[in-house]
Amino acid sequence: MSSQVLPQSFNFEGQVALVTGSGRGLGRMIVETLLKGGAAVALHDINEEAPAAFGESPSLTALAASLSERGGAKVTAVIGDISKEDDTKAIVKKVEAALGPITILVNCAGGDIAAKGGKPNPNDALNISLEDATAVMNRNFIGTMLMCRAVVPGMMQRRRGAVINFGSLNGHVGVSPEVVYGCAKAAILHYTRCLALEMRPHGVRVNAVSPGPTTTARFLATRTTDPAMMDGVSLERYAKPVEIAGAVAFLASDQAGFVNGQVLRVDGGMTLFAG
Ligand SMILES: NC(=O)c1ccc[n+]([C@@H]2O[C@H](COP(=O)([O-])OP(=O)(O)OC[C@H]3O[C@@H](n4cnc5c(N)ncnc54)[C@H](O)[C@@H]3O)[C@@H](O)[C@H]2O)c1
Repeated sequence: MSSQVLPQSFNFEGQVALVTGSGRGLGRMIVETLLKGGAAVALHDINEEAPAAFGESPSLTALAASLSERGGAKVTAVIGDISKEDDTKAIVKKVEAALGPITILVNCAGGDIAAKGGKPNPNDALNISLEDATAVMNRNFIGTMLMCRAVVPGMMQRRRGAVINFGSLNGHVGVSPEVVYGCAKAAILHYTRCLALEMRPHGVRVNAVSPGPTTTARFLATRTTDPAMMDGVSLERYAKPVEIAGAVAFLASDQAGFVNGQVLRVDGGMTLFAG
């Protein structure tokens, strides 16, 4: 992942960003992009070891240390489960004590993960276990909602803030398998629109990105990939993490100052329906 070239970032000087699930994958690339723009950034993950799961970094603390070494970047690391309300409150308290009031919240943590780890199996509409369905909803939709509830009231008071939630193409079209994951992502996208409506009087923007298949370390390690989709000038390929991070940076930036309640599909045009 570190071999990817980060684009010139937007200006985030003076901003404080919390990126959930940023010990690895897309979240980590978003952290690097926001740091490049001058933000102080909180790395977050469910435990110390999450960055090591697919070989991206030995630990969250080690990742924070290596990012801090780059040109005076202000980084802190915090651990907690976004599906537990007490954890979300503690995460925000710790981040704001270390870096100051949060102005950018990126709800990146999530995934199609069963209650006991791995993918739910079965993973279709009629047979997924209730335990796995609940775990997937909690890890994605409920977790995103709880993080918004922990951060957004402060943004409202300060009349300043940008929230970027994570959907997926699976939340826009009928899919099988990964049905409940698609439902959880669709719920996140609709929650985004509803919260954006409620935040209009308060000057807090709430948007979402929906990535297409993207070559994070987890993605590469957990599925059979099509070599023809890996690279090239064509848009008929997988996204690179840096391309998703660029879209998040735009939505977080002042250049998107009047963009609210929108979902940006970042999939190279793989899906081209209206809405
Ligand atoms: N990579 C893709 O192809 C793709 C496509 C569409 C959407 N997405 C979405 O993008 C986001 C990032 O995906 P990724 O590919 O980087 O995956 P990833 O598994 O590498 O990163 C997800 C991170 O979220 C953390 N996390 C999961 N559950 C958590 C919880 N309950 N509390 C705290 N942290 C938790 C994980 O530990 C991990 O670090 C996810 O929301 C995913 O659903 C990814």
